[in-house]
Amino acid sequence: MRCVPLPCFSFHFLLLLLHFPSYTFALCNHHDNSALLLFKNSFVVNPPIEDSFSCSTYSPKTESWTNNTDCCEWDGVTCDTMSGHVVGLDLTCSHLRGEIHPNSTIFQLRHLQKLNLAYNDFSGSPLYSEMGDLINLTHLNLSNSAITGDVPSRISHLSKLVSLDLSYLTMRFDPTTWKKLILNSTNLRELHVEVVDMSSIRESSLLLLMNLSSSLVSLHLHGTKLQGNFPSDILFLPNLQELDLSWNDKLRGQLPKSNWSNPLRYLDLSINNLRGQIPSSLFHLTQLSYLSLSGNKLVGPIPSKTAGLSKLNSLSLASNMLNGTIPHWCYSLPSLLLLDLGDNQLTGSISEFSTYSLEVLHLYNNQIQGKFPESIFEFENLTELDLSSTHLSGPLDFHKFSNLKRLSFLSFSHSSFLSINFDSSVDYVLPNLQYLHLSSCNVDGSFPKFLAQLENLQELDLSHNKIHGKVPNWFHEKLSQSWNNIELINLSFNKLQGDLLIPPYGTRYFFVSNNNFSGGISSTMCNASSLIMLNLAYNILIGMIPQCLGTFPSLTVLDLQMNNLYGSVPGNFSKGNVFETIKLNGNRLEGPLPPSLAQCSKLQVLDLGDNDIEDTFPVWLETLQELQVLSLRSNKHHGVITCFSSKNPFFKLRIFDVSSNHFSGPLPASCIKNFQGMMSVSNNPNRSLYMDDRRYYNDSVVVIMKGQEMELKRILTAFTTIDLSNNMFEGGIPKVIGQLKSLIGLNLSHNGINGAIPHRLSNLTNLEWLDLSWNQLTGDIPLALTNLNYLSTLNLSQNHLEGIIPTGGQFNTYENASYGGNPMLCGFPLSKSCNKDEEQPPHSTFQDDEESGFGWKSVAVGYACGAVFGMLLGYNLFLTAKPQWLVTLVEGMLGIRVKRTNNRARTNRR
Ligand SMILES: *[C@@H]1O[C@H](CO)[C@@H](O)[C@H](O)[C@H]1NC(C)=O
Ligand SMILES: *[C@@H]1O[C@H](CO)[C@@H](O)[C@H](O)[C@H]1NC(C)=O
Ligand SMILES: *[C@@H]1O[C@H](CO)[C@@H](O)[C@H](O)[C@H]1NC(C)=O
Ligand SMILES: *[C@@H]1O[C@H](CO)[C@@H](O)[C@H](O)[C@H]1NC(C)=O
Ligand SMILES: *[C@@H]1O[C@H](CO)[C@@H](O)[C@H](O)[C@H]1NC(C)=O
Ligand SMILES: *[C@@H]1O[C@H](CO)[C@@H](O)[C@H](O)[C@H]1NC(C)=O
Ligand SMILES: *[C@@H]1O[C@H](CO)[C@@H](O)[C@H](O)[C@H]1NC(C)=O
Ligand SMILES: *[C@@H]1O[C@H](CO)[C@@H](O)[C@H](O)[C@H]1NC(C)=O
Repeated sequence: MRCVPLPCFSFHFLLLLLHFPSYTFALCNHHDNSALLLFKNSFVVNPPIEDSFSCSTYSPKTESWTNNTDCCEWDGVTCDTMSGHVVGLDLTCSHLRGEIHPNSTIFQLRHLQKLNLAYNDFSGSPLYSEMGDLINLTHLNLSNSAITGDVPSRISHLSKLVSLDLSYLTMRFDPTTWKKLILNSTNLRELHVEVVDMSSIRESSLLLLMNLSSSLVSLHLHGTKLQGNFPSDILFLPNLQELDLSWNDKLRGQLPKSNWSNPLRYLDLSINNLRGQIPSSLFHLTQLSYLSLSGNKLVGPIPSKTAGLSKLNSLSLASNMLNGTIPHWCYSLPSLLLLDLGDNQLTGSISEFSTYSLEVLHLYNNQIQGKFPESIFEFENLTELDLSSTHLSGPLDFHKFSNLKRLSFLSFSHSSFLSINFDSSVDYVLPNLQYLHLSSCNVDGSFPKFLAQLENLQELDLSHNKIHGKVPNWFHEKLSQSWNNIELINLSFNKLQGDLLIPPYGTRYFFVSNNNFSGGISSTMCNASSLIMLNLAYNILIGMIPQCLGTFPSLTVLDLQMNNLYGSVPGNFSKGNVFETIKLNGNRLEGPLPPSLAQCSKLQVLDLGDNDIEDTFPVWLETLQELQVLSLRSNKHHGVITCFSSKNPFFKLRIFDVSSNHFSGPLPASCIKNFQGMMSVSNNPNRSLYMDDRRYYNDSVVVIMKGQEMELKRILTAFTTIDLSNNMFEGGIPKVIGQLKSLIGLNLSHNGINGAIPHRLSNLTNLEWLDLSWNQLTGDIPLALTNLNYLSTLNLSQNHLEGIIPTGGQFNTYENASYGGNPMLCGFPLSKSCNKDEEQPPHSTFQDDEESGFGWKSVAVGYACGAVFGMLLGYNLFLTAKPQWLVTLVEGMLGIRVKRTNNRARTNRR
């Protein structure tokens, strides 16, 4: 409009201007016009299905680009008013799909100053160096546009850049390009390169940014794989207002003690691997409105003094190791909307708040105690409250939450000292509550009535409480009729009775295990085909299993163990299913097994134990390459077990239990020789301790361990056992068993096995228990077995073994019962001494043992380790209390069992 005051314009013209304020002085340059059209035509317009920016609400701007209109009028196009050249192009969310080629006509728009192609789909095209020819660009924005590859070095020709946004592109910056760009583009104010790979940029190159000290205002380096020292100098840039260095977990360092850039308003340093304390100077930045330091390793207290922080909206210090109490200023920040101090080691109580603006309050997983602060009921805009895993105590009147009309997420799970009073005499409504987590918090009595008023529940977790009686009809109705968005229902570990609840379609997680639900599983369950996990275990359900369960496309866990179900195993597992765990043990199912189980190519755990299944060995399961646990124990399986050696049969199997069946013939050497999963002892400290750690479900399995029935609550990846006991196997022990190096338990008892104990068993150096009792074994006990340093339980009784019992190693600890019923055995611990004239074994004296390294010391260590490891397994003796402390203790212990003793284990408790 700079021409308006010039006298050369007539009055009429001025009038025209007033009436048509968007009138442009010059028509579109015709080169630019055709360049734009060709650019448009090099793509298809393809609406995105869904994305974070919700582009689907935008209409494609290029629709208005037609031959017979002036390009300066087109959507997204800005022209220079004098020359008619295109100087600005904003095609954000224009649904463009296709590649940009180096001959693209976009590079002919040499007058461009602002180019925004964000949120399109350029299908992995590289960014061509031709972009560097648009040297008058001040703004370049390609964020989220599926451009890939190296940032071209010619980008440094864009010396007028003020704003560069390459965020969320799978691109890579090499150090030279970075250096040239930073040194040439001296006017940069905004540099946003989230997730661009900057792993080869060293701290020194990064600090070239200090050259931009007079211009740089906003720097986003989220997830750029930066490594090395935390570039704290950046925090001193005098004009810096926004800094995002989050999700760079290879950056190490500490926060500076002083000299922070004063204008800082947005600071995200979450997940950086920062250590040390939070300097109090940080809380003297008066402009601060967003601060996140969560997911670091910060220690010590939260500073107790601040300078106002009147603009602070969001404060997140979660998942550090902060201790001390919540400082007082946290309770009085006038603009605070989000406060997340969860997952730290904070102590003390929560004081009353004096400002009520909070929308999100997370204090979960701290050692906070004392009463629930009543002022929280004044937070009229509160949407999320997470006080789970705290030591809060005293009464809590639940109906007061009905003041909080916007509350959508509420969790008090694992806060077992609180006594929550639901007060069913008052009618109250929580109109927006969607997520309610009240696991393990002492909810007692009948089903909470206020749930009936909830409109739009998505997650309900009432597990591990003492809720008893029937689930009321209104709950059944709500489930089937109103709660259309429900995703998770967890009512397990209560005392609920009556008919089984049926989850509606849409439900993903449904857990009602360990209750007293009775009756059958209705076929309406077939509607819930959206399920990912279904756990109905430990109830008293009877009847048949609906066959449709095998066809659910997303089901990963099907746990129906310990009910009274009869009939057959579901027979119609579909191709491409995603089952990982199927547990039907402890029912009255009958065979034979459906061959469609072989379609479960992702199956890891199959437990069919304790049923009445009558079949031969399902050798067709050998093709399941992920199978780690196979239990067929206590059924009526019969016949000879042979593997046909398809490719890698039972490749990953670690627990193989076919005990208490009617199998016959030789021990299954043809299978055992392929149990690769039991042959290697992994020392990889990074592998997970437990099998498949999942958020809502832990695999468990019942095994006979050291002569007692145990339930492994979670299956350790180091737990490898074979149980072939209580069958009718015959013949010798195959030598190939000696290759199963990682085996920790072997039970061949109660069969008709004969021949000698192979020396090769001494190769099983991880063995903790060995039961060969009640067979027909003959010959000596191999001396080499004294090498088994962890073998704490040995049972060789009721065989025909003879000769001298070896001494040394763990053999000095076994008792009579290990050898009973072998009349021809002699020596310690049996009372029958051996004839002095007989040859003495070499390792019989205490002295020798010491010298050979198998003396009492190593026995003690070995025994202790065996015992500790036994405990570390986190198993529960049936009928004994759950040693929860053991479960806690076990974390982080894998791969170090050899040298650790009880004391050391304790220090690892968190
Ligand atoms: C636009 O004009 C060019 C020639 O000027 C012609 O080739 C093309 O088909 C026209 N496109 C449309 C959509 O009319
Ligand atoms: C541009 O290059 C691509 C690939 O090299 C080619 O397919 C296309 O025809 C070229 N377009 C023009 C207008 O030359
Ligand atoms: C680039 O900007 C300069 C200075 O504003 C101007 O003189 C020149 O004509 C521009 N170049 C193009 C191709 O627009
Ligand atoms: C880039 O464009 C997107 C979409 O228009 C916008 O949200 C973003 O803020 C822009 N980036 C910069 C640095 O302005
Ligand atoms: C810096 O930018 C100018 C102007 O585009 C260009 O001529 C020069 O080659 C650039 N220098 C580098 C090192 O890229
Ligand atoms: C907080 O932790 C630090 C070490 O991380 C320790 O020195 C200090 O004593 C702890 N303070 C409190 C109050 O527990
Ligand atoms: C709640 O939000 C409304 C507008 O969203 C605002 O006017 C009101 O002040 C807020 N309440 C508090 C206590 O901050
Ligand atoms: C296993 O034991 C046998 C016989 O004792 C021995 O020859 C072999 O080397 C051992 N194998 C390994 C891998 O230690």
